[in-house]
Amino acid sequence: MGIIIIILALIVLSSISLSYGYDPLDPYGNVTISWDFIDQSNPDTYDIRVSIFNMQQYRHVEVPGWKLEWTWNKSEVIWDMRGAEAVEQGDCSWFKGSGGGQLPHCCMKQPVIIDLLPGTPYNMQYSNCCKGGVLSSMNQDPSKYLSAFRMSVGNFHVNRQGSNNSFDKLNLTMPSHFNLGIPGYTCGDPFLVPPTRFPADNRRRWTQALETWNITCTYSQSQASRAPKCCVSLSAFYNTTIVNCPRCSCGCQGLGGAKCVKSGDKPPTVLQLPTSHPLVTCSQHMCPIRVHWHVKQSYKEYWRVKITITNLNFLKNYSDWNLVVQHPNLKSVTQLFSFNYHPLTPYGNINDTGMFWGIKFYNDMILTSGEQGNAQTEMLLHKDEGIFTFREGWTFPRRISFNGDECVMPLPDDYPTLPNGANIITAATFLNLSLLFFSFLFLALLAPPLF
Ligand SMILES: *[C@@H]1O[C@H](CO)[C@@H](O)[C@H](O)[C@H]1NC(C)=O
Ligand SMILES: *[C@@H]1O[C@H](CO)[C@@H](O)[C@H](O)[C@H]1NC(C)=O
Ligand SMILES: *[C@@H]1O[C@H](CO)[C@@H](O)[C@H](O)[C@H]1NC(C)=O
Ligand SMILES: *[C@@H]1O[C@H](CO)[C@@H](O)[C@H](O)[C@H]1NC(C)=O
Ligand SMILES: *[C@@H]1O[C@H](CO)[C@@H](O)[C@H](O)[C@H]1NC(C)=O
Ligand SMILES: *[C@@H]1O[C@H](CO)[C@@H](O)[C@H](O)[C@H]1NC(C)=O
Ligand SMILES: *[C@@H]1O[C@H](CO)[C@@H](O)[C@H](O)[C@H]1NC(C)=O
Ligand SMILES: *[C@@H]1O[C@H](CO)[C@@H](O)[C@H](O)[C@H]1NC(C)=O
Repeated sequence: MGIIIIILALIVLSSISLSYGYDPLDPYGNVTISWDFIDQSNPDTYDIRVSIFNMQQYRHVEVPGWKLEWTWNKSEVIWDMRGAEAVEQGDCSWFKGSGGGQLPHCCMKQPVIIDLLPGTPYNMQYSNCCKGGVLSSMNQDPSKYLSAFRMSVGNFHVNRQGSNNSFDKLNLTMPSHFNLGIPGYTCGDPFLVPPTRFPADNRRRWTQALETWNITCTYSQSQASRAPKCCVSLSAFYNTTIVNCPRCSCGCQGLGGAKCVKSGDKPPTVLQLPTSHPLVTCSQHMCPIRVHWHVKQSYKEYWRVKITITNLNFLKNYSDWNLVVQHPNLKSVTQLFSFNYHPLTPYGNINDTGMFWGIKFYNDMILTSGEQGNAQTEMLLHKDEGIFTFREGWTFPRRISFNGDECVMPLPDDYPTLPNGANIITAATFLNLSLLFFSFLFLALLAPPLF
């Protein structure tokens, strides 16, 4: 009972902390924008490099990607851009007949910049560009957590009375009001940092930016105000009960226009166009993603968990997905099958959180439910003396999130319990027998359809 109360308290605490928009599993996570004033090779323009680093442990930036916006301080215009593009050119009519006949790339006071798509012609690229605005997290793919573009910016002075459009002597200042264009992120004010250094001549020489500013953007789930997108179901070898996702975890069938497809039915083809709302298989929880945690087996010194992630969304293949799990036994992960794993230690010595993601070209994509999409892993954990117990739901996860969205857990009171009177931990013979019996029973009854 004590443990259940603690678990309940943890859940309550976590929902409180969530409402303040602070992620306890990644307390320092942020997206940093670095703004380098590089050089002024032309008297009328500055070259600026903008880099967007996803410095979060597990949350990634998905399609449709970032859409960076800022407000120019004066009347700057972007003459040229590599590795990204402004959504709108804006009104550049003042430049008619100047600048060698070519109009600037963007004359907006508040430009909105998007990344180019993969496969963009080489002469429009810039290093680390062209990923369609998608960013991996630091852990999952360190080669894809950065986006960058370069632009050439001029300041202009318009003689509104006459026909003489002349350029000011340059006096660029840092723009303000940055926005990543991704729901849930808020950016702070730019602050001056030590200038970025760039390698040259095979790293024998270093050049540096004239001035570098950083902007820190942080995510808050409550700001994103997103309904849950995933839920957790539980089972254990010692009990035939499967604890399903809580009713209405992500929506209620037939309520609020929630549409779903009955299992076995084909979704109507018209609806296969991507929409902002998922189209899910009808269920009592209506979540697009279900994570099932099955306590599968007990050995003398180890125990085994099977995790199955099921895609119940007809409209989305989840590529480069990730799963974050909090469980006190994760510090003793001994063996893991079919997933990548990285321990997360937000509080230094407390090693109870880990991140899982798929193996490239094997299960890094969970296909739509139309294709029976799921991914699964088994994990062997050491039974740490004095901590490990099958009692009171200890073997079930404390918290799970999928792609950074916290999953709805069943109530601890509903967790599968040990059969009455069974002393599964101390009585070794009984343990082995019951293990065999229950695993067999479990496999025979449930294995094919559910797992
Ligand atoms: C941004 O995140 C990184 C990585 O977690 C961290 O080291 C850094 O201190 C954070 N920056 C800010 C301003 O919080
Ligand atoms: C422009 O930048 C200067 C100096 O950084 C600042 O004092 C001024 O308030 C800024 N103006 C606007 C419109 O942001
Ligand atoms: C345009 O303006 C600049 C500075 O204001 C001036 O030096 C120049 O003579 C002008 N050119 C013409 C064609 O009026
Ligand atoms: C450029 O900046 C300097 C120093 O901040 C200031 O004295 C000057 O008036 C500025 N020039 C223009 C055209 O804004
Ligand atoms: C500024 O951002 C860059 C890129 O994320 C980072 O390497 C650097 O440490 C940051 N500087 C400060 C002072 O936060
Ligand atoms: C999901 O991936 C499969 C196989 O690559 C593809 O046939 C299907 O069109 C994709 N579905 C969506 C909704 O992207
Ligand atoms: C946390 O546990 C993992 C194994 O699960 C281990 O590889 C890692 O070194 C541990 N980290 C710390 C800080 O104890
Ligand atoms: C299985 O767990 C449920 C709670 O989810 C409990 O009500 C039931 O008694 C347990 N079954 C056995 C055989 O102990």
